[in-house]
Amino acid sequence: MSQMIFINEGQYPSFHLTNGKLSYIFHVLESTQTLEQLYYGAAIKPRDNYDYLIEREVRPSNNLYQDTHTTSFEHIKQEFPVYGTTDFRYPAIEIAYPDGDHISHLSYVGYTQLSGKQTSNLQPMLRAGEEDAATLIIHLKDNYSQAAIDLHYTIYREQAVIVRRVVVHNRGEESLRLKRLLSMSIDFPHDDFELLHLYGAWARETHLERKPLIKGVQNFSSTRGASSHAHNPFLALVAPNTSEHQGEAFGFSLVYSGNFLSQIEVDTYHVTRVSMGINPFQFDWYLDTGESFESPEVVMAYSSKGLNGMSQQFHDIYRQQLLHNETPFEKAPVLLNSWEANYFDFDEKKLLEQAQLSKDLGFDLFVLDDGWFGKRDSDNGSLGNWTTDLDKIPQGIRSLASNIQAMGIHFGLWFEPEMLSVDTPVYQAHPEWIIGHPNKNISHGRNQFVLDFSNPDVVANIFEQMSQILGSAEIDYIKWDMNRYISEPFSNFLKKHQQGELFHRYILGVYDLLDRIRKAFPAVFIETCAGGGGRYDPAMLFYANQNWISDDTDAIERLKIQYGASMVYPISTMGSHVSEIPNHQVGRITSLKMRKDVALFGTFGYELDIMKLSDADREEVRQQINQFNQYQSLLHHGDFYRLNSPFEAGLTAWMVVSKDQSEAIVGVYQSQASANSAYERIQLAGLASDQAYELLELDHESKDIPVRYGDDLMAIGLILNENFTGRADEYWGREKAGEYHSRVFYLKTKKDK
Ligand code: GLA
Repeated sequence: MSQMIFINEGQYPSFHLTNGKLSYIFHVLESTQTLEQLYYGAAIKPRDNYDYLIEREVRPSNNLYQDTHTTSFEHIKQEFPVYGTTDFRYPAIEIAYPDGDHISHLSYVGYTQLSGKQTSNLQPMLRAGEEDAATLIIHLKDNYSQAAIDLHYTIYREQAVIVRRVVVHNRGEESLRLKRLLSMSIDFPHDDFELLHLYGAWARETHLERKPLIKGVQNFSSTRGASSHAHNPFLALVAPNTSEHQGEAFGFSLVYSGNFLSQIEVDTYHVTRVSMGINPFQFDWYLDTGESFESPEVVMAYSSKGLNGMSQQFHDIYRQQLLHNETPFEKAPVLLNSWEANYFDFDEKKLLEQAQLSKDLGFDLFVLDDGWFGKRDSDNGSLGNWTTDLDKIPQGIRSLASNIQAMGIHFGLWFEPEMLSVDTPVYQAHPEWIIGHPNKNISHGRNQFVLDFSNPDVVANIFEQMSQILGSAEIDYIKWDMNRYISEPFSNFLKKHQQGELFHRYILGVYDLLDRIRKAFPAVFIETCAGGGGRYDPAMLFYANQNWISDDTDAIERLKIQYGASMVYPISTMGSHVSEIPNHQVGRITSLKMRKDVALFGTFGYELDIMKLSDADREEVRQQINQFNQYQSLLHHGDFYRLNSPFEAGLTAWMVVSKDQSEAIVGVYQSQASANSAYERIQLAGLASDQAYELLELDHESKDIPVRYGDDLMAIGLILNENFTGRADEYWGREKAGEYHSRVFYLKTKKDK
């Protein structure tokens, strides 16, 4: 196994993590025993000395030592900055000491190396086999307390990825108070970057924004108790000339579902500090003697091949080392979700008819969404009462599930485990189990309250209730929803001094419940959801097989949502459905084909009343499902390339290329028609230059199948305009594409070129 961690030993060692795809270098400063960041970027060769990377200008500033002008931490690129030094930028850690001060100094003590990596039983972390990765743990001690701080760095062999996290141990006699603990911090020596991030709101999640950096602090965060619709825990710094296909990109993705902070600070010397972790706002953690606190992980992906290169690192590492891959299905299941067809209005007979027809059309899974439990005929109540509504389903879930299974189709069920309605036995017995101060206002959200998951009894109760249902019936799939944020944080369970721990303990409670469900029902397929994409983050994907990324199911709107989300998340995780028209969110009418062509580049499912479809549409759905089944392996395991951005042009395009480059599938979407338009070409990517590809347009009758070479398709591209040569009389009668129009092409290498 080739070496990936290079250490120049000595009293003040240097550390170089490299896998031939990236290099990450830092060392111990002789004068202070603190860590100085030296380099992060394209791979360079290991050397026995990195002093040549040290830059120290003589500057008027606050210096640590008498008679020097070069020991100001403000001018030294920090690897893990602390508060209360000559570095005036925001730190990665802040400890409140018994005297009331927050002044720290972390000194290097030593290091440990291991093959693979350690994981945690408290929270999601990436996996790594012994051969897949190497981990370096840097041990630091606090000069002013008995805190020991371990910085973990894992470098993966196959991807240009480093994963960082921090563990703080209290080895002292007194409890320690952590006011801030970010998972990582890094100082880049310049600010010649643009910043790229994902923002949004309910029903318009993961929109992409790219802006030049400005001097000072910019951050994206969540204070809502979930990673949120508003900002995704992801950002990238890219060179100004970086495009989808070329240039440097540094991506940072936090494996966390709660309140997070991603921050960029550009100082007056143009140094860019990136830091990420649990949001310090409203965070105050008491660490008792002998206890440890683990930060979540940050996944850092490097690319010299543009944004697609960066995204592919994230997609590969998440597919291989994060996602829960065990499922009861032989392939990616095509599901029919009942929500937009039924809302709360259904009975057993209706469900069985829908399930039977879905089986006939080739679906793998029938999902009964909200409304099957308690007395839930609207979103007014019953959350937390996970017993079947026998008025709607008289024989109970067990019988419904087995009747559906008997048709030869799987059955799935919706839950919203973290919520409570006041009309439930749980609320009647334990009003103190909801988050909120008993003497202050507690806002409801969709008529519901958030259960206090920092309390293990609450988690145990919901686990029991869910196990009853999941254990009693054949349920192969759970949709795990979460439909409101935490607005007035107060726990009746936590002590007064622990209230600053609530947000993090809440999310640990959510992980605990997911973990228990996973262990008790290992093969159950989980689709996480939070009013659509309110918690679409890597931590949820650790437990889940996929995530419902938006309640907006309109095909045109989805182009932006799926395009943005693909910056970090594999398309195999993006819950995407062909839904009703007029669309329930925006009222737009798009063809069944267009809706299919967009959903195809995701998990692929349907959310409409199939009973109302015409025979012709039913036949089309049957063929669409066949088509997905035919290409699902390519779609979900290949390399995804963004080609044309819906944020920049009326024509969106993306494609997936199989790892061996023998096949590819391309989606092209027009969201605005125009007359007498310009020529349109889409240059493809990722193909083998010297291979000849047969070019087949799906859903399109064609007598001949053109053959094009990979180099030609990447240099010239797909030519989308018609060739009317010699057909002048067809001008007035020709078929027009219309406003919303899509085409999908399949490319396969032709063996006998
Ligand atoms: C949320 C989800 C929807 C649906 C409803 C049910 O909004 O995002 O897909 O499950 O809840 O109430």
